[in-house]
Amino acid sequence: MCGIFGYVGKNNSAPTIVLDGLKRLEYRGYDSWGVAVVPEGKKESVIVVKKKTGKIGDASVSELPKGTLAFGHTRWATHGGVTDINAHPHLDCTKTIAVIHNGIVENHEELRATLIKKGHTFVSETDTEVIVHLVEEYLKHTKPAPRDAEPAFSKAVQQAFNDLDGLNAIILINTTSHEMVAARNGSPLVVGFGDGENFLASDPAALLPHTKQVHYLEDDEMAIVRDGSIHIFNARTGERVRPRKQLLTWSEKDAEKGKFPYFMLKEMHEQPGLLSEIASESPEQAKALAREIRESDRVYAIGAGTSGNAARAATYLFSDIANYLLNWGIASEFNHRLPIISESSMLIALSQSGETMDLLEVVKKAKDRGIKILSIVNVVGSSLWRMADLTMPIGAGPEKGVASTKAFTSKIAHLLLIAYAMKGDVASGQKLIIRAARSAQKVINSSAVDQIKNLAKALKDVRHMYVIGKGISFPVALECALKIKEISYIHAEGIAAGELKHGPLALVTKGTQCIVIAPNDETYHDVMGSAMELKARGAHVIGLSFKNDEAFDDFIPVMDAGEATIIPNVIVAQLLAYYLTIERGFDPDMPRNLAKSVTVK
Ligand code: F6R
Repeated sequence: MCGIFGYVGKNNSAPTIVLDGLKRLEYRGYDSWGVAVVPEGKKESVIVVKKKTGKIGDASVSELPKGTLAFGHTRWATHGGVTDINAHPHLDCTKTIAVIHNGIVENHEELRATLIKKGHTFVSETDTEVIVHLVEEYLKHTKPAPRDAEPAFSKAVQQAFNDLDGLNAIILINTTSHEMVAARNGSPLVVGFGDGENFLASDPAALLPHTKQVHYLEDDEMAIVRDGSIHIFNARTGERVRPRKQLLTWSEKDAEKGKFPYFMLKEMHEQPGLLSEIASESPEQAKALAREIRESDRVYAIGAGTSGNAARAATYLFSDIANYLLNWGIASEFNHRLPIISESSMLIALSQSGETMDLLEVVKKAKDRGIKILSIVNVVGSSLWRMADLTMPIGAGPEKGVASTKAFTSKIAHLLLIAYAMKGDVASGQKLIIRAARSAQKVINSSAVDQIKNLAKALKDVRHMYVIGKGISFPVALECALKIKEISYIHAEGIAAGELKHGPLALVTKGTQCIVIAPNDETYHDVMGSAMELKARGAHVIGLSFKNDEAFDDFIPVMDAGEATIIPNVIVAQLLAYYLTIERGFDPDMPRNLAKSVTVK
């Protein structure tokens, strides 16, 4: 969702630093962008803003005045259409205060009405604009502060923040105090500590070229960020908070595209290497988590989207490998089941970003009830990470393509290791992951890619596709369909093979495109039976399997890796979705209407 980047320091190219920061946040998904600067050396002048709909691309802010305090925003519209005026930053009536915001101000209508009565003029349709007028209003009633008194501006921001309903992250600047004042409730914000300069961002990856020392703001925390100091305090009580400095472990290079045209392609290519790393890590953590799971009353794995598919896949891994019944759920649906879950249960929360609001909401409620939380999360330090009782880092490095790829396969590898640890045979799990890494490498580097590219060429104009799988290949089918629809915009549906005859078969006629996932496991004969049924009705059948069969019109070979074959199968699905997208002329990294980190409900 919205990206935020702010700079305060000595460098008078602050607008350019901010624009570069926003470019590193592009992957989050957005429909407009904007930068605001306090012009250098003109204390009484107004804040200057440049904001526009569309992509940042090659945009420049060279026409903005020089300044050492600036911030910017990429907007993913919620309230108010996608227009230049609705883009952030927003200014108050005097144009001396500016705000950027991530979240939704739920009581914006009543605040707006009150402020209009008090004479404020609104120019946009956004909920965000109320924040800056509210701060303006509070400042009007604040007497000039004596030298050592509480600074008036941050006090006004605090008062305004406490008036907002909903989950919001805000940053405000003004023309008189050389500082950014930030507050967070729900939406993520991270403070970056520099040398004579400091930063704010919605995502730590944007800070990597500047600093690795960060403090993640907790809910209700505020920060006054100046070039030489950072003060953190509680927005409700005013109490000072000691910065909890953390070191970012990712490198700047990890977050760049390198030789690849798109992040998604780069991230898919990283998968064999990541799998080998996971297989060679010490298995002690997997063993410890296996014990925790065994000691819990019941265990539920939850996630959203691709992470939800990983949760569903985990149930098959745990039952097939560890003979253990793991429950699973989609995060946004799980709220309704929480009340009947015992306090001695455990929730395994799966997430790449660790900021998905649907997931965080369930985790918060579960935690309040004393349910143990294990988070398996890629962004170390994220909200989910900080909330959990037990954490397992996915270790996939920055994932910037909106479509999740390497975070999914790395999650599966960790879950498979835990399942093997529950069986008391973690070494076999490690060996399987190595096999999966080899199988993945074969898919990515061999003639299989050419086959996938040719297939994508042939399929680029189809309107519907069906993906069929059974057992653990059912979540693969769902994930394959999700990847295809989200980036190529072809309608794709994942179907459990056994369900075909219960409805979906009615859709199959001559030429219907069907992908059949047929690994070397106990589902093979059933799923091939389904393939024959599809073929009998004229479907064009594309087989993903360890061996070719007469039922397949097209065949992509996937080397068997036992229970871990889910991993190379999903990688074939990712590649197919990617090349379909390229053939259709779309940008796989930034699918329409979607955002990388879904921080609103
Ligand atoms: C699809 C995709 C999304 C995410 C979902 C949850 O490719 O990326 O479906 O999986 O928004 O995100 P995380 O894993 O960050 O909680």
